[in-house]
Amino acid sequence: MKIDVVSIFPEYLAGLQLSLIGKAVDQGVLDLNVHDLRDFTFDRHNTVDDSPYGGGAGMVMKAEPWALALEHILGGESLVGATSVERTVGADTGDEEPAAAGRPILIVPSPAGPVFNQRIAEELSDADHLVFACGRYEGIDQRVIDWSGEHFDLRPMSIGDYVLNGGEVASMVMIEAVSRLIPGVIGNPESLTEESHEDGLLEYPIYTKPASWRDRDVPEILLSGNHGAIARWRRDRRLERTAEVRPDLLAGLNGLDKHDRAVLERFESGDDSVKE
Ligand code: ADE
Repeated sequence: MKIDVVSIFPEYLAGLQLSLIGKAVDQGVLDLNVHDLRDFTFDRHNTVDDSPYGGGAGMVMKAEPWALALEHILGGESLVGATSVERTVGADTGDEEPAAAGRPILIVPSPAGPVFNQRIAEELSDADHLVFACGRYEGIDQRVIDWSGEHFDLRPMSIGDYVLNGGEVASMVMIEAVSRLIPGVIGNPESLTEESHEDGLLEYPIYTKPASWRDRDVPEILLSGNHGAIARWRRDRRLERTAEVRPDLLAGLNGLDKHDRAVLERFESGDDSVKE
C-alpha cells in the first residue's frame, strides 16, 4: 500500500518510522511518503494560510498549496490550469470518469467528519493508495476540498468527538489502525482475530507469569489446559466486558448463540457467580 501524508509539520509523523509500521516501511510492505506543504508555496515566507472571508477568528489554509501538493502526489502534471473538459478524464471520448474505487482515497482528518472505526480501518486496508491531508488552523479552504473530490475518493474523517490542534495525530491514529491490518505488517496475524472491536466485542482480560502476584491469582481455568473451556471463558468475559463498558456495541452484534444470550442476561441481572 502507498500512503502519502501532507502536513506543515512533517516531523510529527516521524513516530511512524518506529516499531511495526517502521519495519513494514523498511521492508517495502508500506510505501510511506510525508510531504511538507510549504514545499508547494512560492513566496518568501512560504505562506500557507490567510484570514477567513466573512470574518471570524483564526486563519484558513490557502487552496493553492494544497492543490499543488495533491497534484504532485497524483503524478506531477498540473491540473489547475486545465479546462474542466481536460480535467474530466475521457470527457471528449464519451468515456465515464474513472470509478471512485480506482482513485486514491484522500482522507481529510476533521472533527466534522464521520467517526473512524475498526470497520472503516478494515475497508481502508484494502486500498492501494491512501493520502492524508493534515489541516491546521481553522481548516482548509473548502474550494480545494471540493476540487479534490474530482480526483480522489474524498473521505473527511474524525477520530472522535473532541477537537485536536490539527490532523497529524488523527492521521497517525488512522495510519496505524489501517496498516496493522495489511498482511505482513503484524508478525503473528492470529493476534488480530481476538482483539477488541474485531467482531464487535471488546477483548478478554489477559495474564502472564507469575500465576500468583501480590495475592492475586490468575483465573484457575487458564491454567487448566482445557482449550475449549478456556475459549468459552474468554468469550464470556468479552461479552460481560462489552455489556459493562460499551453497552452501545451490543445492539450491533449478530451471531449470538443461546449461551451468549444467557451470559448477557446473567450480567444484566447482576449475577456474576459464573466468572470463576
Ligand atoms: N482535527 C481536529 N480534531 C480532529 C478530530 N477529532 N478528528 C480528526 N481530525 C481532527
